[in-house]
Amino acid sequence: MPVLFDGGCRWALQGKNVTYGIELDDENRLRHAYFGARLPRVTDLPKADSYHFPHESPGGPGVRYEYPAWGSMYYREPCLKATFADGVRDTRLVYEDHKIEEGEVPRLIVGLRDELYSLRVSLHYRIFEEQDLVERYAVLENVGGEGITLEQALSAVWHVPPGSSYRLTHLAGQFAGETQVYREEISPGKKVLESRRGITSHHANPFFALDWGDATEDAGEVWFGALGWSGSWKISVDHDVRGHPQVSGGINDFDFSWPLEAGASFTTPFFVGGYTSDGFGAASRSLHRYVMDHLSPTKGPRPVLYNSWEATLFDVNEEGQAALAEKAASIGVELFVLDDGWFGERRDDRRGLGDWWVNRKKFPDGLDPLIEKVKALGMSFGLWVEPEMVNPDSDLYRQHPEWIYRFPHREPTESRNQLLLNLAKEEVREHLFEVLDGLLTGHDISFIKWDMNRPFSEPGWPEAPPGRQREVWVRHVWGVYEVLERLRERHPGVAFETCASGGGRVDLGILRLTDQAWTSDNTDPYDRLFIQEGFSIAYPARAMMCWVADPEKWVRNREASLSYRFHSAMMGSLGIGADLMRWTEAELEEARELVEKYKQIRDTVQEGDQYRLLSPREGRTTAVQYVSRDRSRSVLFALCGVRRFTEPEPRIFPRGLEPDALYNITVEHEPVTGAALMRRGVEINLEGELSSVMVEITEVRAG
Ligand code: GLA
Repeated sequence: MPVLFDGGCRWALQGKNVTYGIELDDENRLRHAYFGARLPRVTDLPKADSYHFPHESPGGPGVRYEYPAWGSMYYREPCLKATFADGVRDTRLVYEDHKIEEGEVPRLIVGLRDELYSLRVSLHYRIFEEQDLVERYAVLENVGGEGITLEQALSAVWHVPPGSSYRLTHLAGQFAGETQVYREEISPGKKVLESRRGITSHHANPFFALDWGDATEDAGEVWFGALGWSGSWKISVDHDVRGHPQVSGGINDFDFSWPLEAGASFTTPFFVGGYTSDGFGAASRSLHRYVMDHLSPTKGPRPVLYNSWEATLFDVNEEGQAALAEKAASIGVELFVLDDGWFGERRDDRRGLGDWWVNRKKFPDGLDPLIEKVKALGMSFGLWVEPEMVNPDSDLYRQHPEWIYRFPHREPTESRNQLLLNLAKEEVREHLFEVLDGLLTGHDISFIKWDMNRPFSEPGWPEAPPGRQREVWVRHVWGVYEVLERLRERHPGVAFETCASGGGRVDLGILRLTDQAWTSDNTDPYDRLFIQEGFSIAYPARAMMCWVADPEKWVRNREASLSYRFHSAMMGSLGIGADLMRWTEAELEEARELVEKYKQIRDTVQEGDQYRLLSPREGRTTAVQYVSRDRSRSVLFALCGVRRFTEPEPRIFPRGLEPDALYNITVEHEPVTGAALMRRGVEINLEGELSSVMVEITEVRAG
């Protein structure tokens, strides 16, 4: 049984290898009891700490509430902070009821309620047994007649066993340098990872991992989690001198205020947490499988894509795109994507956003002739849009200047010459749905790249009562989700890519509604190894869109061979973003072979288990291996970065193979057992800076 109840006051959620336990204390409050290696019975749970230090009341350092509310003498980061109609700002949650729901993903719902006021909190727990993950969110409900204002409504707090030598792993970055891995010892105090930008952001990603300071890729206890929210978010790692770390997360409480009227409820985003004793690699693989098998709206590997952005920028037209499409088809591309520049008066980034009608100077007969051409070439067609945005120089803005976020008497700040539409407004959401639905209904489009190229500023909603204006932070995200949901429902065959100036909106919330993510506008194949490694910490290769680009593009001027650029991009979902018109016949031929090769291995890369064998952060060679779920096929990429001094070539130790099975490996002549490959390693000779190899490991099947 995945959800156990002792009939009194204890519950345990059982994964394949983990147990998550909670219990009621003597005051009927819900406390955290355990999160760690699996315990067979609910009665095995340790007693939740009831330790009180002299002069401290309940809520002191040792007390680990499951959903702490601010009230009484609770001074740590609360999940909930509320103000009641009479001005009381103190919440005390006690147990009310619980429900267990069996099913493919079993669920436990524990109902809490304030001792006096009509605020009910339902804590939802879903246990993903195979992945050893617990998904949590809370539903806050006003069950009385008077209003309540929520000022903090986080998704969950994760407690780890007491200890003082914890280390935090998190992802931080910047535009063109997303998802860098940071690892640091945590000391008493609070470390806040957050976005206040209205989107997930390039600067931090809603993921955390804690370990005892000694976990490696393959071994050691790791507690980790990722948040499903694509707006302003916060994860705080709160640690005290007595060694009680806790990690809370959810919608950022900064500038947050939510009036909860009588009868209304508020559902927080979900926060997924996991535990493993097998190191960081196992933590990532469990999140990957969760995304692939449960979260992602579609299953199966992604097609090889071509995107015209870096080749043509805004200078798109039917003839030029058709010529690129021919080249793309000739090297084996399956999906041709027309990026920015096809609509309105869009000649550059100063105009046109919002006017989602086809520019007839560039496409005299509309998009259909190009789409037919692309289809005749055997590819499907995809289109770029940036629905949440408007340029002041656009028909839409001229018609509806009141549709943007703004404060009266203040000039709205432009970024990339654009302003943000207020998706809290129903008419705006309706307009966007109609425009996008019209495009998808009127044309044979099977892919949409949904871009978002500026963060929030002046988040005002002058038409709403002042007490409700702060809802925009949440309502905007809900608005994006709603439009995506409706489009997916109406056009189930269309896939979506999330993009925000590269990887500015990558999180579990958006991956529930999109099939892949544009990882970064930085397409340099070596820089990408760092960005991709960080992406892989929380998100699967299938969702990680990687382009083979031209070397002279804007972020770097690094020259790398075509095969190096391909190998770097083949570590995720492969795309080509180069100007194919300038490629020589020899380059096109080499690309054709590499695309063909990718198609042979992509099931393993995109659907298999990923092992980070050598990190670009730790030496000059990066090695990443992918193993099919049945362990019969594996592919390993090794890429050399910048050489220093006389570093020897490292031996590479594959992982995840069947020890007794016999494998052919492309760098050796004789078949060899999985055990040997994993224990004695493989010698791979990289020929120098920016050289790379792809190694295939295939089980020798009898007969
Ligand atoms: C963003 C995206 C790019 C491209 C441009 C188009 O920067 O990240 O891939 O689509 O917008 O303007």
